[in-house]
Amino acid sequence: MRLIFLGPPGAGKGTQAEFICRDFHIKQLSTGDLLRFHRKQGTELGRKAQQYMDRGELVPDSLIIDMIKEELVKPEYKNGYLLDGFPRTIAQAEALDKLLEELNQKLDYVLILDVQTEEIVTRLTARRTCKICGKTYHLIFNPPKVDGKCDIDGGELYQRTDDNEETVRNRLAVYEKQTKPLIDFYTKKGIAYFINGQGEIEKIYKQIQEILLKTKRL
Ligand code: AP5
Ligand code: MG
Repeated sequence: MRLIFLGPPGAGKGTQAEFICRDFHIKQLSTGDLLRFHRKQGTELGRKAQQYMDRGELVPDSLIIDMIKEELVKPEYKNGYLLDGFPRTIAQAEALDKLLEELNQKLDYVLILDVQTEEIVTRLTARRTCKICGKTYHLIFNPPKVDGKCDIDGGELYQRTDDNEETVRNRLAVYEKQTKPLIDFYTKKGIAYFINGQGEIEKIYKQIQEILLKTKRL
C-alpha cells in the first residue's frame, strides 16, 4: 500500500501516520522529519534547509525532490509507504508521478486531513517533540506519561523552532497558497479521501481505518 498524507501543519499527519504504519506494516517517510535529521547531522542539505524551515517557508523543490529520489529506492520502502508532508507543490507532485513510473509503482490513496485554523494554532504552540525518535505530544491533548520525557525511549521533549504562533501562521498561509492546489490534482486522479481531522485522535484513526479497509486496495 502506498499513500500520501495531505493536510495543513498541525493537522495530525504525524500522529495518525504512526498508527497506520504500525497496523498496515508500511514505512513512514516524513520530509519534515528527514530535513530535521539532516539539520541535526549538520549536512549540506540540513544547512540549506534551515533558513526556510525556521521562517515557515517551503524548502526549494529541487532539494526536496533529490532527497525523495534518494530515499524511496531504499529496500525498507519495498512493502509500501506513507508520504507525510510530501508532495507539497504541484512541481513535487509531478516529479513524484515521474519517479513512480520509473519505479513501476502506483499510489493507492491520498488522505486529506482537514482542521480549522485556530485549532491548529492551539495544537502547534503546545506541541512537544522527542529529541530521539521524533514522536509528538501535546501538553494538554496528548501529554506524555512523565513530564518532559518520551513514552517510547525516555528522550527529552523539545519545542520545534517553527512552532511559535508567528511562524505557524506563515506555514498556514504557505499551505493555502502552495499545497492546497494538490487536493484538486489528486481528486482528478480519483484517489483522494477526505477526513475530518478534528475530535479525538482515536476516532479520527477509525475514519482512516474504515477508508483503508473498505476500499481494500491493499
Ligand atoms: P513538517 O515537519 O512536515 O511540518 P508540517 O506539515 O507543518 O506538519 P506538522 O508536522 O507541523 O504537523 P502534523 O500534521 O504532522 O501534526 P502532528 O501529528 O504533529 O514540515 C516542517 C517544515 O519542513 C516545512 O515548514 C518546510 O519548511 C519543510 N518541508 C517539509 N516537507 C517539505 C516539502 N515536501 N517541501 C518543501 N519543504 C518541506 O500534530 C500536531 C499537534 O497536535 C501535536 O501536538 C499532536 O499531539 C496534536 N494532535 C494531533 N491530533 C490531535 C487531535 N485529534 N486533537 C488534539 N490534538 C491533536
Ligand atoms: Mg509532522
